[in-house]
Amino acid sequence: MKFFVDTAEIDAIRELHDLGMVDGVTTNPSLIMKSGRDIKEVTKEICDLVDGPVSAETVATDAAGMIAEGRELAKIADNIAIKVPLTWDGLKACKELSGEGRMVNVTLCFSANQALLAAKAGATFISPFIGRLDDQNIDGMELIQDIRTIYDNYGFETQILAASIRSANHMKEAALIGADVATAPPNVIKAMASHVLTDKGLDAFLKDWAKTGQKIV
Ligand code: G3P
Repeated sequence: MKFFVDTAEIDAIRELHDLGMVDGVTTNPSLIMKSGRDIKEVTKEICDLVDGPVSAETVATDAAGMIAEGRELAKIADNIAIKVPLTWDGLKACKELSGEGRMVNVTLCFSANQALLAAKAGATFISPFIGRLDDQNIDGMELIQDIRTIYDNYGFETQILAASIRSANHMKEAALIGADVATAPPNVIKAMASHVLTDKGLDAFLKDWAKTGQKIV
């Protein structure tokens, strides 16, 4: 499973990138707002750092507007994936932009039917939002499984980009199902390294080591 980082915070991306953990980056208008940065400037910085796809989201609500914004965002770098929402207009924009050979990430997906339409429209990535479904007492992970089954049934090449990931457990479950990509905030990726027994075991080893009075270096 590829790891994308769901943030526009360049320092956080760099830290994970230096560890080889970053296969791509996703941003959205809320994350750009949180960063306090200009969308084009910060996206360019991210694209210069990361070789993989960097999603930049359009904000127009009509297809023509999304297409114009998508083409503009794509000028930032060759690794831009244009993000459009899963609306009828978004599907039209997806068809047009993917037909031009651009990467398109169709976002705000909450149903298997939406994902099926995005694949038919040529999406490079489909972004089903796990956490926001869970928030509504709907099993977000079941959606990932349904899309996996449907795409595999027909050999669709659209990559499942599990999004709205809120926990390390979401990462594990997405990987078990076979999501192609998971995008998560940096703190969730870091949380994957934590285990209470690791902390406990390390504590015990260090206490015993102190009793030996030895040093390694
Ligand atoms: O990738 C989409 C993500 O940014 C949404 O996450 O936590 O706002 O639902 P969240």
